[in-house]
Amino acid sequence: MQDTNNISRRKFIQCSSTAVVGLGLASSGIAQTDNLLGKKRSANDKVVFGLIGCGGMGMANANNFMGHADAEIAAVCDVDSSRMPGDIKRITDKYGRAPHVFHDYRKMLERKDIDAIIVGSPDHWHALNLIHACEAGKDVYCEKPIAYSIQECKAMTAAQDHFSRVVQVGTWQRSDREFTDAIAYVRSGKLGKIVHCRAWIADGTRIGKKAPSTPPTSLDYDMWIGPAKMVPYQSNRVHWNWRWVLNTGGGLTTDWGVHMMDIALLGMSKDQDLVMPTKVSATGGNWALTDDDRDAPDTIEALLTFGNPDFAMTWSVLRDHPGKPGHGTEFISADGRTVRVWRGGWMIIDADGKEIPKVQADPVPTSHWRNFLDCVKTREKPRADLHSVSQTTICCHLVNASLFSGETVKWDKSKMDIVGSAGKNTSAYKRAYRKPYVLKMY
Ligand SMILES: NC(=O)c1ccc[n+]([C@@H]2O[C@H](COP(=O)([O-])OP(=O)(O)OC[C@H]3O[C@@H](n4cnc5c(N)ncnc54)[C@H](O)[C@@H]3O)[C@@H](O)[C@H]2O)c1
Repeated sequence: MQDTNNISRRKFIQCSSTAVVGLGLASSGIAQTDNLLGKKRSANDKVVFGLIGCGGMGMANANNFMGHADAEIAAVCDVDSSRMPGDIKRITDKYGRAPHVFHDYRKMLERKDIDAIIVGSPDHWHALNLIHACEAGKDVYCEKPIAYSIQECKAMTAAQDHFSRVVQVGTWQRSDREFTDAIAYVRSGKLGKIVHCRAWIADGTRIGKKAPSTPPTSLDYDMWIGPAKMVPYQSNRVHWNWRWVLNTGGGLTTDWGVHMMDIALLGMSKDQDLVMPTKVSATGGNWALTDDDRDAPDTIEALLTFGNPDFAMTWSVLRDHPGKPGHGTEFISADGRTVRVWRGGWMIIDADGKEIPKVQADPVPTSHWRNFLDCVKTREKPRADLHSVSQTTICCHLVNASLFSGETVKWDKSKMDIVGSAGKNTSAYKRAYRKPYVLKMY
């Protein structure tokens, strides 16, 4: 099946004439899913999905859900038709029928039989995709970082609460054994008092240089830009590369910081309600990868200060990290011992640099995707609940707010806001949406 709607911006506005984007689908009469009230389901019930964004991670998530007998991908949606054929084929091969294909995700949200939405669009679209999905009564598996700005983080968690939705964020490291083991060890107190955490990623990506050109006919560029600032199309600033472009992403601080700082924050917290920094200051710039169209800084050193417990965290985007993996998180105790964890392993190192034997936890956690399916049925909080990963995403944005403004930024966890004005005049805090897009705050 094919949704033949043209998704030009004009049509997008016409479709939502009763209430533009950001409008309450709930109040505009668009059908809501039967599970709107969040009723519990039985373990054998199938969770029916629609996918927004058929890029690398959107389809990776769909594939992971397809490995479960109680999950079904019923519909897919992308604003670039050239990105969908492979996904359509995989889904058709799996179920013996083609998925319902959409270009406009709001049309897909009208399907009452869809229980849950995978948000696999670029970061600058997550907030609207998720809020509209919540309004339509869907649960959401939303990719990380949850949002493009702190303001969007607040709008998204408010919508989740308002519509009582189950939302899992794609920070799958929370369900991966090396990370859960390392976090359990740190939380057990065996490493002693922790005074310092480090998180880092090596970044050497160039997106090259391209002159503005006409978008390919398969891509609705206006809809791809969505609420971001309209800029001329350049082929090296869209798919995948958008994360190194500050109009649509936050560089590797939001892209990988949300994974690696997340582990530090979780280890230093008792549960999913994360410790938050009181003060953040960052320096950096585009100093290494010059003569390139990327504008996200390639070199960053950030210092995050925490109280209760007192500790410091550094976040680095750098060229290399001698003797260590290209990404990772470390916890350093008052007596100089270190827990280091990365994708592939974890280790405990004593103050003399010797590895200390460790034990693996038992049992191995269920997969991140299985955890979401279970929580959709039980209505329990998944392992990477939106509120929790919103806190990590905000930490990333505080780093960018300091970097972009050159100011030290203070955070008040109880007010969930920046203290004073430092850092507020940045896109990491808040951005004006391109008309007619509106960010609704429930
Ligand atoms: N959890 C992880 O480990 C992990 C890994 C990679 C990417 N990600 C996240 O996944 C998301 C997607 O990243 P990617 O690398 O797959 O990007 P991508 O650019 O490859 O794919 C995004 C797709 O979304 C489509 N799209 C854009 N706006 C849309 C809209 N309004 N409606 C429907 N489709 C739309 C694009 O055309 C594109 O095909 C990002 O948030 C990214 O941070 C997570």
